[in-house]
Amino acid sequence: MSWAVVAGASEGLGAAFAAGLAARGHGLVLVARRVERLEALAATLRERHRVEVECVGLDLADADAVPRLVATLGDREIGVLVCNAAFAPLGAFVDQSAADLETALAVNCRAPLLLVHALLPAMVARRKGSIIWMSSLTAFQGSPWTSVYGATKAFGLAFAEGLWGEVEASGVQVLVCAAGATRTPNYLAHAAKGGAPGELDPEQVVAETLRHLGRGPLLIPGAFNRFASFLMRRVLPRVTTIRIMAGQTKKLEG
Ligand SMILES: NC(=O)c1ccc[n+]([C@@H]2O[C@H](COP(=O)([O-])OP(=O)(O)OC[C@H]3O[C@@H](n4cnc5c(N)ncnc54)[C@H](OP(=O)(O)O)[C@@H]3O)[C@@H](O)[C@H]2O)c1
Repeated sequence: MSWAVVAGASEGLGAAFAAGLAARGHGLVLVARRVERLEALAATLRERHRVEVECVGLDLADADAVPRLVATLGDREIGVLVCNAAFAPLGAFVDQSAADLETALAVNCRAPLLLVHALLPAMVARRKGSIIWMSSLTAFQGSPWTSVYGATKAFGLAFAEGLWGEVEASGVQVLVCAAGATRTPNYLAHAAKGGAPGELDPEQVVAETLRHLGRGPLLIPGAFNRFASFLMRRVLPRVTTIRIMAGQTKKLEG
């Protein structure tokens, strides 16, 4: 059986990826800190899709999190890896603690990078497998008030696109998903009243992402987001795009 590992599966987009992959018949290894949420999701998915689901309670910021996860995976054939977990410190950079900055780097960059490093060789050897890295529209330009989060998402974008080019011919699919505003519990907890233009539901983002596998290195889900991103990247002056992002993230901060 082919297994899918979803890092950050306890709610939001990660839970939607778990559901989407279970519907495609994958066994699941679900990872997050809140293991009781994972267990509740696992029970639903086992019943609905008759797939095996294992829940792994891990803090991906821990230095030994990835080796522990890899040991838990054992000799399972991993067909899909979804690097979805994230930590997003909001507010002025000068007000953020050094500990939060380290957590953002560890959860958003270090852990997924090491996971890909651990799982990719077997995929390349089998000439089969998919890696999905969740990035964000914040990756394309500086995003004031969420500058560290945006920078970690830019890291993921650059890394995954580069890796796509390296393994393209091997049969392994690498896809970076630069999502816009998505109605996850965490987003809704911070979102401005009335929402943001182009908002999508997590299930829409996941469906588009899974459909896009094998069709190129980058997906921006949602027609509005693709158009807005085109304007921001190719038409508007850079300073203007940074100011637009500042307006959006200032609203998020509430
Ligand atoms: N929602 C949006 O509008 C949006 C837009 C663009 C991109 N994205 C990207 O999409 C992804 C998912 O977004 P989301 O809104 O669904 O995020 P979320 O609600 O914050 O969920 C993040 C997931 O990561 C897990 N996680 C966080 N810190 C962790 C840690 N230290 N160790 C293990 N697991 C951890 C959380 O589970 P626990 O808390 O149980 O550990 C949760 O399952 C992120 O990469 C985000 O950057 C989201």
